[in-house]
Amino acid sequence: MTVHFIGAGPGAADLITVRGRDLLARCPVCLYAGSIVPKEMLAYCGPDTKLVNTAPMSLDEIEAEYAAAHQAGQDVARLHSGDLSVWSAVAEQIRRLEKLGIPYTLTPGVPSFAAAAAALGRELTIPEVAQSLVLTRISGRASPMPEKEKLAAFGATGTTLAIHLAIHAIDRVVEELTPLYGEDCPVAIVFHASWPDERIVRGTLATIAGQLAADPIERTAIIFVGPSLAEEEFRESSLYDAYYQRRFRGRDSL
Ligand SMILES: C[S@@+](CC[C@H](N)C(=O)[O-])C[C@H]1O[C@@H](n2cnc3c(N)ncnc32)[C@H](O)[C@@H]1O
Repeated sequence: MTVHFIGAGPGAADLITVRGRDLLARCPVCLYAGSIVPKEMLAYCGPDTKLVNTAPMSLDEIEAEYAAAHQAGQDVARLHSGDLSVWSAVAEQIRRLEKLGIPYTLTPGVPSFAAAAAALGRELTIPEVAQSLVLTRISGRASPMPEKEKLAAFGATGTTLAIHLAIHAIDRVVEELTPLYGEDCPVAIVFHASWPDERIVRGTLATIAGQLAADPIERTAIIFVGPSLAEEEFRESSLYDAYYQRRFRGRDSL
């Protein structure tokens, strides 16, 4: 018996990996976070799969489900939105499984920032403009930010920020980042990337709070900030440069 943690992707049912879909089809038990994993994803489960919505459950109750499935010798598919490597609460579940001696695997998923960037039709790393992407959030009730992980500290780099779990605090985001990026810095907000009701709001640090006040977004959105969001006059990367092709591309090691 194994618990298979599966990244369910950002929302669209066809943005799960083939491996994740196959696991869903063959596990007799499926635990899913009903508040954010779309119902269409559950259609990949077998007809007799025991479906458990973990949205109203405590960690102790979830652990009890794992223990019961272990007892019964039944594999479990455990769906979490996006990818498992960020803000998935997988770490605490793994720790409990290890204590119980229950084996587990992790299958990655499409993270929401990637789906949101696709919705914008943008690459987020642009030559000589931004070569890093900061995935971050702001303090919330559930988990405060570590002391040094301040938005302003990341903003000091001037690179692209993908701010999660923060749409309710857009005023704070604007206040902290305007001194670093300037009022004209582009901002793009993607709500429900890949869902049927996906919505994009583009503006600048000067305008974005007013745009949202006029037509609010309350949850499940990513705030991108940085010059890479609008830059058009950038240098081409050397990857497809003719000289680079001649010199390096024939080599196996590349
Ligand atoms: C608990 S975190 C989960 C992150 C997830 N593990 C991932 O890989 O993206 C939830 C936050 O992710 C972002 N998010 C998740 N799905 C999204 C989507 N489809 N569109 C935009 N943002 C999304 C929002 O910032 C939301 O508040």
